[in-house]
Amino acid sequence: MNQEKILVIDFGGQYNQLVARRVRECNVYCEIYSYKTDLNQIKAMKPKGIILTGGPDSCYEEGAASCSRELFESGIPILGLCYGAQVMMHVLGGHVCEAPVREYGKIEVTVDRSSVLFDDVSEKTICWMSHNDYIEKEAPGFKIIAHTRNCPVAGAESVEKQLYAFQFHPEVLHTQEGRKMLHNFVYGVCGCAGTWKMDAFVETSIQAIREKVGDGKVLCALSGGVDSSVAAVMLAKAVGDQLTCVFVDHGLLRKNEGDEVEAVFGPNGPYKLHFIRVNAQQRFYDKLKGVTDPERKRKIIGEEFIRVFEEEAKKIGTVDFLVQGTIYPDVVESGLGGESAVIKSHHNVGGLPDYVDFKEIIEPLRDLFKDEVRKVGLELGIPENLVYRQPFPGPGLGIRIIGEVTPEKVVMVQEADAIYREEIAKAGLDRGIGQYFAALTNMRSVGVMGDGRTYDYAIALRAVNTIDFMTAEAAELPWEVLSKTANRIVNEVTHVNRVLYDCTGKPPGTIEFE
Ligand code: XMP
Repeated sequence: MNQEKILVIDFGGQYNQLVARRVRECNVYCEIYSYKTDLNQIKAMKPKGIILTGGPDSCYEEGAASCSRELFESGIPILGLCYGAQVMMHVLGGHVCEAPVREYGKIEVTVDRSSVLFDDVSEKTICWMSHNDYIEKEAPGFKIIAHTRNCPVAGAESVEKQLYAFQFHPEVLHTQEGRKMLHNFVYGVCGCAGTWKMDAFVETSIQAIREKVGDGKVLCALSGGVDSSVAAVMLAKAVGDQLTCVFVDHGLLRKNEGDEVEAVFGPNGPYKLHFIRVNAQQRFYDKLKGVTDPERKRKIIGEEFIRVFEEEAKKIGTVDFLVQGTIYPDVVESGLGGESAVIKSHHNVGGLPDYVDFKEIIEPLRDLFKDEVRKVGLELGIPENLVYRQPFPGPGLGIRIIGEVTPEKVVMVQEADAIYREEIAKAGLDRGIGQYFAALTNMRSVGVMGDGRTYDYAIALRAVNTIDFMTAEAAELPWEVLSKTANRIVNEVTHVNRVLYDCTGKPPGTIEFE
């Protein structure tokens, strides 16, 4: 794609993807590469600018992640953030060492002189800091543009060389004017025009898919999740009924979800495509009978899913293309971009390509972050409730029922979860929480109902806030919402007599219960 772009050079920091997302929010395309990427390769991409991320090392120690002096002499505008700023100073002859006072959290930064990066930024501004080392002395040719109480160089610049450094993290929301600063870098320093817009992306992608597919046949495994739905609609708009979508209902979906997916993609929906719904509930329940180990359950569900899909694919015969809803974080986290390969083996019901007879894979969302996928979804006219669906694990309710899965337990958790979601939505909290759901514990306890004793199950409610799903905090839900939900669940869901709220963060908990 012939796009103006900013490169994020990743030193293994926690916020690498966030930096790229913030740049894209400025309507500028941005990609993440490892700090090990060859300088010639970087130059060949003709970036308008480069941002160096934070990282866990100490830049003055042997073997620390670094980059060459030539990068800083390439004439490409560069902004170093936190560790990236330290590397810049260290390589160019400044002095970085262990800070006498470690700064962590929201810190007041004082802007010392006018810099284009601080255009329209307050003189005293709250920024997010997290560093053990600091820049004791800036490199020759640099001017200090900001400091804090404990950090003499919170910002530095060499306008002439187009090099800029921040000790803090402008990409994190806690940095109150961070977006403005990144915007200033991207437009004020790099001179970007802001061509990355989702409406244009949709148009060019549909055109490109049409050209690529020609009159070929395309197959898509539709899960009802945001990514596969958006990918499917894009393909449907491009090639219409040359597309077949197979939707496997494994009986572990949320209440009414199968029908909701069918309403959008089925014959009565707005799109011209072939839709095949496979009602395989009983097959999955049979396979899961008596199984309690979470990883075994995941494996069984994943394998059965492939088997069902494979059977359908065989009926269809050879296809030319297989659609996958891969998105940019999958690409980065699988180690293909960036520095931080995250191990997420269990997180995808994957392996489909091995089981389908096809010539080529199409990944229309491969360059997009999740929020961009949602924007594309809206551009394509997909209903909002589908576009803003929260993440739902491939094994579905199978891992939200602790212990053995039975059809009766599936109904219990479906009903409880539907009530919980309804109450959250009524309270206007549905877009504000990262992920929330009900799970069925395998604890039974004594209760009283009317005049009688009960011995029934406990539902656990979970709600977390998270940036990346790798760490999370339990959300502080209003008591009225919790108590109303609990009341409704025990009254409306048979065989539930207790409702618990999970206050555990991740770590040490996980988001799901299994
Ligand atoms: P955990 O429970 O690992 O969840 O903290 C992090 C995120 O991943 C989702 N998750 C899964 N997604 N297959 C999936 O497709 C899985 O087996 C799976 N397990 C967890 C979870 O919903 C959360 O968003």
